Amino acid sequence: MDEPLGDFPPEVFREMGHAAVERLAKYFETLESRPVLARTKPGEVLAQMPRHAPEDPEPWEAIERDLDFLVEPNLTHWQHPGYFAYFANTGTAPAIVGDFLAAGYNQVGILWRTSPVLTELEQGVVRWLLDLVGLPWGPDGFDGQLADTASTASLIALAAAREEAYPDVRRTGLAGRPQGIVYCSELAHSSIDKACVVLGFGTAGLRKIPVDAEFRMDAAALEIEIAKDRAAGRVPVAVVATAGTTTVTSVDPLPALVEICERENVWLHVDAAYAGSAAALPEMRSLFAGWERADSVLFNPHNWMLVPLECTGLFFRRMERVRRAFSVVPNYLETPEGNVVREYMDYGVQLGRRFRALKMWMTLRAFGASGVRARLRAHLVLARALRGVLEREPGVTIAAPTPFSVVAFRWTPEVLSPEAADAANARILARINEDGRTFISHALVSGRYTLRVAIGNVRTERRHLQTFLQVFREAVAAESPRKP
Ligand SMILES: Cc1ncc(COP(=O)(O)O)c(C=O)c1O
Repeated sequence: MDEPLGDFPPEVFREMGHAAVERLAKYFETLESRPVLARTKPGEVLAQMPRHAPEDPEPWEAIERDLDFLVEPNLTHWQHPGYFAYFANTGTAPAIVGDFLAAGYNQVGILWRTSPVLTELEQGVVRWLLDLVGLPWGPDGFDGQLADTASTASLIALAAAREEAYPDVRRTGLAGRPQGIVYCSELAHSSIDKACVVLGFGTAGLRKIPVDAEFRMDAAALEIEIAKDRAAGRVPVAVVATAGTTTVTSVDPLPALVEICERENVWLHVDAAYAGSAAALPEMRSLFAGWERADSVLFNPHNWMLVPLECTGLFFRRMERVRRAFSVVPNYLETPEGNVVREYMDYGVQLGRRFRALKMWMTLRAFGASGVRARLRAHLVLARALRGVLEREPGVTIAAPTPFSVVAFRWTPEVLSPEAADAANARILARINEDGRTFISHALVSGRYTLRVAIGNVRTERRHLQTFLQVFREAVAAESPRKP
């Protein structure tokens, strides 16, 4: 044996780890000098990678060099205070350390006994999150889990709804059964389409209900669709309400949807992926009134509660309904304590689970609920301020109400036709993102190309919005000489 086997020794790990912390600290210090959106051309990174993994060990310095010259120049900087695209978020220091430690402890949560602390910290963090957003915990309230993403969480919730609507479907499958229908608004997230595909309803089994002038699901139209489906012998399975739509952050009329679902005995799932964190603010809670009567609710701490991907809170009333949909226990996973502890493998698709609760637990402790609330409030204040400026900006139209921290708007001078304005806004977006100081994204709102500024990074201050406004004005000025 010429090479000792095993991992790098602790003293080497210590150096690697210290260098990684030093790297990230420097990264945070220099963030603002970097263009937010990566300037990478498609295929550029891959072209720089050797085709084959190295046969022999490489010196750590070579790997560090590639972090400098291959990795960091090709990052899109989500941690940058000028990041305003999609739903801006932050991986904060306690959460980063939590994720790092979770990897180091390498807990594989297949069973309670393979990591009691992973399971029980997750149960405890679920209770903390429920308290924070004002949802009741317990046998008459909610319990739940931390999933990887909202997409997976909605799939799990809708699988449980399917089991309720078609008892024993996990054994029989759907073949020969009447078509099941899921209802959501036309602004619901594409993850609901995907869940319908996976669960065998197909996209033909998804009804997209129109929205009203404020982008909320039309409850009367929902009732009509449910009645039509029942009359045709189809099975209404679930209504998915969105609290904080992806494009404009509108909230579906939860009280009306709860009434309909209770009357119709249809599962109500609330997708509050981005906006749910805002329910930590008592003054925002009225926007979510009714969700406490839903069958399942999700929100993403990785969107707006200070932790990096992945961390989705998925909550259920009567969790045994999820267990009925998912529990499959082969002999090798039976344990003497199986009936008295929470076995999270019974409540979803995955067997092995990460120690996701660790970063959430450390983050909530390090910031405290008051620290979380203060940061959410700061974002709401910034969004209102930006909206106020944009309302007065020549040629700008606000495209939707701003209930949370996303401002949707267009540059629509009167001389431009709607189609010409669409093209102009697309060019403005491209110029803003080429500039590099900020990064924003777009959405189709009422069929028109719309710019979106999403505030959600804890480093963002008023001056970064001023920078955005300056960049936006420059981009508009480049447009102005153009005649329709
Ligand atoms: C309302 C809504 N639901 C679900 C998702 C999907 O989130 P995830 O990436 O956690 O699957 C998004 C993402 O933007 C969203 O806006």
